[in-house]
Amino acid sequence: MRRVFKKILIFVIVICTLWYAAELKGINLNKIGLALNEKYKLLNLNNTSRKKELVLVNIEHGLSKDYKPEGLTTPNISFATGVNQEEKYVAGIIAKPIEELVHAAKQDGIILLGNSGYRSYKSQNDVYTSRIKSEGKKLADAYVAKPGFSEHQTGLCIDLTNKSSNFVKGTKEADWLAENCYKFGFIIRYPYGKQDITSIEYEPWHIRYVGKEAAKYIYDNKITLEEYLAQSKK
Ligand code: DAL
Ligand code: ZN
Repeated sequence: MRRVFKKILIFVIVICTLWYAAELKGINLNKIGLALNEKYKLLNLNNTSRKKELVLVNIEHGLSKDYKPEGLTTPNISFATGVNQEEKYVAGIIAKPIEELVHAAKQDGIILLGNSGYRSYKSQNDVYTSRIKSEGKKLADAYVAKPGFSEHQTGLCIDLTNKSSNFVKGTKEADWLAENCYKFGFIIRYPYGKQDITSIEYEPWHIRYVGKEAAKYIYDNKITLEEYLAQSKK
């Protein structure tokens, strides 16, 4: 009886180890992404009563693998060196607001550069996989959404940076963005101290377009998009 138990235990350990190794290598990330999409709520952005810019994409609310935003456009802003063509795109409705934001920053002596806008499911998968390889799964999950669960796939957000690629709290660029982005309809989507709600660590560089009214409310009340939508039931 003991022998049988031992064999079963060894079998379970081997299976778990193989599964973990496969995940670390990113072998089954596509399948995992699909499984997650099936498990969680899949959004249909073309069939929602909520304003498109208020769509919630997070660890629990995913997009279909082939979802692509309307009117992908490259905004007329400067980008950091090495940004690929796809990541220069944003959804049509945020092109003008992001141009206005970057222009206003410049008037205040602040240079903001585009770093990553739209990312397809495949690109997000590549980012997630390579982050796991370079930093391990725990750190990757803290900062990178799994494919199908990233708002970069909506085209409604963009990561900005500065000339030194050191966009952290306390730099004049990050501080300017935190204080001013709401005026253009954007929010800091993953604020400091709200990781328990957003499931993502503080990202001062990632701004998300929600429209001016929602952005001002979220800024004034120091809340997240999750909290805003829960309060307003929008
Ligand atoms: N860095 C954000 C969470 C993303 O990967 O979508
Ligand atoms: Zn981002």
